[in-house]
Amino acid sequence: MRSPLLRQLTRGLPRPARSFVTSARFKVNANTPTQPEIASKIDSVAESVKVNPSKQPDASNKHHATDKRIDLSLATVEAVKPASVSHRAYGLSIAAPGVPTISLNYTYLRDICKCPQCVDRYSKQRNIRTNDIPTDIRPRHIKWDGEHLEIQWATDIPGASPDHISRWHHSYLKKPTLDTHDLHDASNKPVTWDRKNMEEHQQWVSYEDYMTNDAKFAASMRNLQRTGLVFVKDIPDSREEVEKIATRIGPLRNTFYGMTWDVRTVPEARNVAYTNQFLGFHMDLMYMNEPPGYQFLHCLENSCDGGESLFADAFRAASKMRRQHPKEFRELTERKMGYEYVHEDQIYYNERPVFELDKSSKHFRHVNYSPPFQSAIPIRGKLRFQPLKEALDVFTQILESKEMTFDLKLNPGECVIFDNRRIVHARRHFNTSTGSRWLAGAYVDTDAVLSRFNVTSKKQPDAWRAADPLKHVPSVNKDKKTA
Ligand SMILES: [Fe+2]
Ligand SMILES: [Zn+2]
Repeated sequence: MRSPLLRQLTRGLPRPARSFVTSARFKVNANTPTQPEIASKIDSVAESVKVNPSKQPDASNKHHATDKRIDLSLATVEAVKPASVSHRAYGLSIAAPGVPTISLNYTYLRDICKCPQCVDRYSKQRNIRTNDIPTDIRPRHIKWDGEHLEIQWATDIPGASPDHISRWHHSYLKKPTLDTHDLHDASNKPVTWDRKNMEEHQQWVSYEDYMTNDAKFAASMRNLQRTGLVFVKDIPDSREEVEKIATRIGPLRNTFYGMTWDVRTVPEARNVAYTNQFLGFHMDLMYMNEPPGYQFLHCLENSCDGGESLFADAFRAASKMRRQHPKEFRELTERKMGYEYVHEDQIYYNERPVFELDKSSKHFRHVNYSPPFQSAIPIRGKLRFQPLKEALDVFTQILESKEMTFDLKLNPGECVIFDNRRIVHARRHFNTSTGSRWLAGAYVDTDAVLSRFNVTSKKQPDAWRAADPLKHVPSVNKDKKTA
């Protein structure tokens, strides 16, 4: 039963013109006090009526009262029909036409308050800590209009202002975190490709559009996100351009190769940093703790015979292997390979499985494949070399098959951008007696690229949607497991 004091108090709650009190317990009259006045009244009265000394864990702290019946009776609810709210001791559910029902706990809700008291409006940093939330956090007033949920708290964080109101749009409550690494989310999942798909649907954007047209840049980012491989053309003939192209997405990743680097071979050079031999499929810098996420290769010269670039979607190949060779597939998810770079002034080493899966969904997170940089195979327990060798053999055969391999010869003025954690790259042998080959390279970390994807999709939603390759090429993603 509610106390007469409470009944008297709750009569004072204001009623906005568009809404009505669904709980219908509490009538509203016209002479309403201001919100802070109500808040302080409720707080002081609530304290005086809800405390049951025998149950209260800490009589000195009003935020630890425990009588749930009284707490519940304190909460008033406004819902604009046909939206509806149901609330219980520890949480509430909101529903409305066109809005999926959302059920949330009060502690959770208090924690995700984004109001200017809780989150600094400029720095976006939180002013509250999760452990500051009272164990008996309860609302005193809930308002839901089918779009926004508002809560005023009966037992707020100590020190919170009495006029504190938490307010969220339902879309935020439905998806409060932006897990940019969530590759299996329907809106993000990789659209995997093979040679045929890539030959027919490779994505080119002109330098001019990429640098200056936000919609076309967004389209290019959307394709990069889905397929992991896009191309820029008509780039001015300058060594500076690779940096400009990369930093349009995010800051350059520095490594011991420098902020940008060159893959350059000139005819009969005496001292070449790079050979002109075939370089098999690999990913870069697998020996680093955080290998660079995206790679940029801008072609400045390519007049040699040969020197074509090869690419393959390792997610596609791994996915095929999962279906056709599950035992060998498992071997490459369980066994860690070692990758190293050991030179006089650099010693790098890391171990990772070839197939790195999301722990819960088992979708691919990364493929880590780089035979040129492989170290001695790390031995943990019994050495089972043969199964590993067989598994690697199966994967390599799929990856290097004609069906999987997309090749093209980059021309001067063209740049490839690809996901280094998913797409393997290789280079055919080239003949330096017939010309020269010069690519300028750069890396941008995954964090920065995922951030760019998110921002771009928000700022250019139409271009982002229209460019989705899933729309144009439904056949390429038949393989659900790849996502
Ligand atoms: Fe490479
Ligand atoms: Zn707040």
